[in-house]
Parts: sequence; structure tokens; C-alpha cells
Amino acid sequence: MRLLITGGAGFIGSAFVRMTLNEHPEDSVVVLDKLTYAGNLANLEAVAHDPRYRLVRGDICDATLVGTLAGEVDVIVNFAAESHVDRSLEAPGHFIQTDVFGTYVLLEAARGAGHRRFLQVSTDEVYGEVRSGRSLESAPMRPRSPYSASKAGGEMLVAAYRASFGLPAIVTRGCNTYGPHQYPEKIIPLFITNAIDGLPLPIYGDGGALRDYLHVEDHCRGIDLALRHGRPGEDYNLGTGNEVSGVDVADMVLRLLGLPESLKQFVTDRPGHDRRYAVDSTKLGALGWVPKIDLPNGMEETVRWYRDHEQWWRPLKSGEFWEFYRRNYRPLSTGAASS
Ligand code: NAD
Ligand code: TYD
Repeated sequence: MRLLITGGAGFIGSAFVRMTLNEHPEDSVVVLDKLTYAGNLANLEAVAHDPRYRLVRGDICDATLVGTLAGEVDVIVNFAAESHVDRSLEAPGHFIQTDVFGTYVLLEAARGAGHRRFLQVSTDEVYGEVRSGRSLESAPMRPRSPYSASKAGGEMLVAAYRASFGLPAIVTRGCNTYGPHQYPEKIIPLFITNAIDGLPLPIYGDGGALRDYLHVEDHCRGIDLALRHGRPGEDYNLGTGNEVSGVDVADMVLRLLGLPESLKQFVTDRPGHDRRYAVDSTKLGALGWVPKIDLPNGMEETVRWYRDHEQWWRPLKSGEFWEFYRRNYRPLSTGAASS
């Protein structure tokens, strides 16, 4: 299979590129990535010299470029997105452009090229807040942040291309993902890297919002399974069933690094903060998907990775990162968050 992997220089996309080239010797990969602040070629160093891999720096919204690349591959796997909820509250337009319009451009190119598969990487956040129970794939989308609304918008276009043009598209809806190479703005890598530097871990609100954390390798295995053995026209949830709060994440990180509880800092809550996400993954389970890495082991490995790879994340935590940080975080007691 020849794959066009968009967003392949990001966190999950790069893990998927590495996994595909490792586990499928016959496959070749073209990565299309705009290299935004979240894209990082260091994530692809392991495959940089593989003759089956090619990098194209470009925008999924560029219809001419995407049309040309679609003609050179069998399938598009779309990871490209603006992906951080807090940034979507500050600048929703970027999210609508990439996550909605960009998805349309890719769908149109796949249709034009007559592809027999399209995989849209989506998120459990499209279901919105789930107060009780677990979302099945048939549950309605009720997104509440500009990020989740943009991802839901991309999904709506996928649904339209299935129904109107018969495009054989598959959607995966993964839960919160963690592991090596994650840009240090999401909670787990932010808390680990802050803790390593002795900085406070900013916990939103009462720290009780619940998320399900999935290791990036398990997430990629699930996407690979859905791509190769899923049924076109179907959506697949990916979750582990765990429910972990912001306080739990801080406690785990501090314990693993042997640091004091006093580094926990409660900050003003995120506007519209979804209290809980929870999905039912029985459907992908029926195809044989089982997450292999549990959170205690995955967290230990991830903390070790960030400790051993300061050269990877330190350059990212500078300049624009701290400007965003200062705008975003408001400690409950004093003024702006310190850096
Ligand atoms: P990321 O922010 O680490 O990476 C996104 C990548 O997309 C970057 O390399 C960036 O340069 C690229 N990109 C952004 N805009 C682009 C554009 N217009 N054209 C081309 N490339 C562009 O994101 P991630 O965490 O790896 O997430 C990947 C996908 O998985 C996203 O679609 C996201 O919605 C979804 N997802 C993420 C999680 C999570 O917890 N991280 C969970 C479920 C689903
Ligand atoms: P995040 O990693 O941003 O993922 P998402 O919002 O897409 O689920 O946040 C995960 C949870 O952690 C969420 O409940 C918000 C909380 N959180 C904090 O308490 N502090 C932080 O600095 C961040 C980034 C998140």
C-alpha cells in the first residue's frame, strides 16, 4: 500500500509513520505536513533515510498539491489538525481552516483519485461531555469547544462524501493520547516537563475532570487495524475504559519523579471545560484491538523518555510557548502563571 500520511510530523502521525514502515515492509509513505509549531522533523529522524519514505512540506488546504499527491498513493490517512483545545479558544479560525476545510480538500482529492480507502483520524471529543455511561459510535455528536466542533465538522464532511459519492471512508475516534514525542502543551508532557524544571503543574478548576489516556502505540495499532480490516463507512471508538482526573495525572507525575505535592497549582478553569469523556470500544475490539500498555507502565516509560530527551523538548519550551502559557493560565490566588 502507498500511504499519504498528513500531519505525519506531529505526535501521533509520526508514531504511525514509524510503525507503518516497521511493520509493513511492502508499504511506502508520503508525509504531507505544514510543520506548524506542533510539527517536528525530529519525530521522523528514525525513518529519514528509509527509501520508502518521502516528506513533502505543505498545507492540506492546498488543493493543487493535495491533488497531485493523491494521484501517487492508494490511501490517505488524515492526522493533520490543529489539536489543542486551549489554542482553539484563542484562535478558532485556524482550527476551522485545517480541521474542516483541509478535510474537505483531502476528501475531494481522494474522490478524484478513485481511492478505495480514506481514513479520518478523529477524536472522542466530538461526542462532547459525557456525564454518565459510555458513547457508542452511534451516539450524536455534541461538540462544545472550537477544537471538537472543527473535528466534528471534518467528520460531517466525511459522512457526506460517503453518502453522496460512495467514498469508502473510515473514521477513528481516539481518546486522549500520550507517550514520547508529544508537544509539551497537553497535560501529560506539560506536567512532566514542568516538574523536571521544578515549575508548578497548572491544574484547571477543581482538577476533577475525567479523561481516558491511551498510549500512542496502542492508538496507532488501532488506526492500522481500522485501516486494513475495518469496514468502509464505519466509525470506530478507541479507549481503554480508565477514568483519570487532572489531579491524578499530577500525582502520578510527581510520584514518578519523586517531587513534592506542593508543585500542584490550581488555576482558573478552562472555559467550557468538558467534565468527562468516555467511549465504548467494543466495535474495534471485535476486530481484535486490545490496548497493550496500561497507564502505570506507559506513564513510567513516558516520564523516562522526557527525562532522557531534554534535547527534544527544551527548544520547544521557549519564546511563543511561554507567551501562550502566560496568556492561558491564571493561578487562582495570584496574578499570571510564572515560567
Ligand atoms: P499534533 O498537534 O501533535 O500534530 C498535528 C500535525 O499536523 C503537526 O505535525 C502539524 O504540523 C500538522 N498540520 C497542522 N495543520 C496542517 C495543515 N494545514 N496541513 C498540513 N499539516 C498540518 O497532533 P496529534 O496529537 O498528533 O493529533 C493527530 C490527530 O489525532 C489529530 O487529527 C487529532 O485531532 C487526533 N487526535 C489526537 C488525540 C490526542 O490526544 N493528541 C486524541 C484523539 C485524536
Ligand atoms: P488536554 O491534555 O489539553 O486534552 P483535552 O482537553 O483535549 O482532553 O487536557 C486533558 C485534561 O487535563 C483536561 O481535563 C484539561 C486538564 N488540563 C489541566 O488541568 N491543566 C493543563 O495545563 C492542561 C493542558 C490540561
